[in-house]
Amino acid sequence: MTILVTGGAGFIGSNFIIEWLGQSEEKVVNLDKLTYAGNPENLKQVENDPRYHFVQGDIGDTQLVSALLNEFRIRAVVNFAAESHVDRSIRGPEDFIQTNMVGTFRLLEAARSYWSALEDKSHFRFLHVSTDEVYGSLSPDDPAFTETSRYEPNSPYSASKAASDHLVRAWYHTYDLPVLTTNCSNNYGPYQFPEKLIPLMISNALSGKPLPVYGDGQHVRDWLYVKDHCSALRTVLDKGKTGEVYNIGGGNEKTNLEVVHILCDILDELRSRSDGLSYKEQVVFIEDRPGHDRRYAINAAKLQQELGWAPAETFETGIHKTVKWYLDNQEWMQNVTNGSYRNWMKEHYSQ
Ligand code: NAD
Ligand code: TYD
Repeated sequence: MTILVTGGAGFIGSNFIIEWLGQSEEKVVNLDKLTYAGNPENLKQVENDPRYHFVQGDIGDTQLVSALLNEFRIRAVVNFAAESHVDRSIRGPEDFIQTNMVGTFRLLEAARSYWSALEDKSHFRFLHVSTDEVYGSLSPDDPAFTETSRYEPNSPYSASKAASDHLVRAWYHTYDLPVLTTNCSNNYGPYQFPEKLIPLMISNALSGKPLPVYGDGQHVRDWLYVKDHCSALRTVLDKGKTGEVYNIGGGNEKTNLEVVHILCDILDELRSRSDGLSYKEQVVFIEDRPGHDRRYAINAAKLQQELGWAPAETFETGIHKTVKWYLDNQEWMQNVTNGSYRNWMKEHYSQ
């Protein structure tokens, strides 16, 4: 049997495919449009694996998706494909609506049509990978988000993901499509595009650029090492109950300034600046992001208690591995920051 991974050339999808092929006999078809965020280089180590098959294309291309589902007799779809960066969604929401909402709708329809023609319908799964940002923003004393927290998305990105979650839910309740939805906290680790906080800070630090902290730097995110997210997704796919939602998180709340300082400390230790000063010298506070959510925190008790998942990394162990990976893979960083991403950065951050 084979699984269809969408958006598998991005950050989490590529980690998922590498882990999957390392732990399972099953084949993987990776359908990815290769936007600025998709990079086949992420999958170099599996590209010659006969169980891995890459197809460049859009989740909104119903004909293509239907052909793949039928040709490979897909037993599960894992939907990572999305526009994923909040800042980009503020500057240009259109692509977010197109891929995250319309694309997910079309993918669901293609999956429904394929699944309803299957002789044995019971084994098929549609796993939709989503975010905790759909729940909105927490105050300092609020309890962490649970699966029953109200949807209160605040950015075009989170609103488009919230819409996709609702579509997935409706396809279960209306058509019985066997879906699973996961809402995960902020990920970090290898192959993350250097527009997101952690790889951006590492990249800027090493190239002597400012480390731009939005607002007062006291916004809180709940960090999870990407491989722990991948193991949670495998657990949900294996053991999750269809129609259910599972929150994923590792209980690692940190302010942005704390994260940046930790990164500077690790870089000071592993690759000190030539002038002997700390990378903290490069921190600058810049204008806040519009509508910036103050705090996210995930309660993952359901996943831990019902399905027996637990993260393997603490923030301390995961962040060390991550910094080391970026130091060892600076060529990757240079390659992904070429081309369209570099032009986009120039347009938006040239001031
Ligand atoms: P990413 O931006 O690194 O990768 C997205 C991938 O999707 C890219 O390879 C891109 O080429 C592909 N893609 C975009 N539009 C497409 C389309 N129309 N058809 C096919 N492929 C398309 O994103 P990521 O950080 O790996 O996130 C993956 C998923 O996980 C997203 O759905 C995101 O909402 C969710 N998520 C991310 C985080 C996080 O911290 N990064 C946390 C929770 C949930
Ligand atoms: P980001 O990685 O964009 O993820 P998200 O917005 O989905 O949580 O940002 C993480 C946090 O870091 C968020 O509070 C915004 C902040 N941030 C900065 O302070 N400076 C930056 O340059 C970036 C990219 C993010």
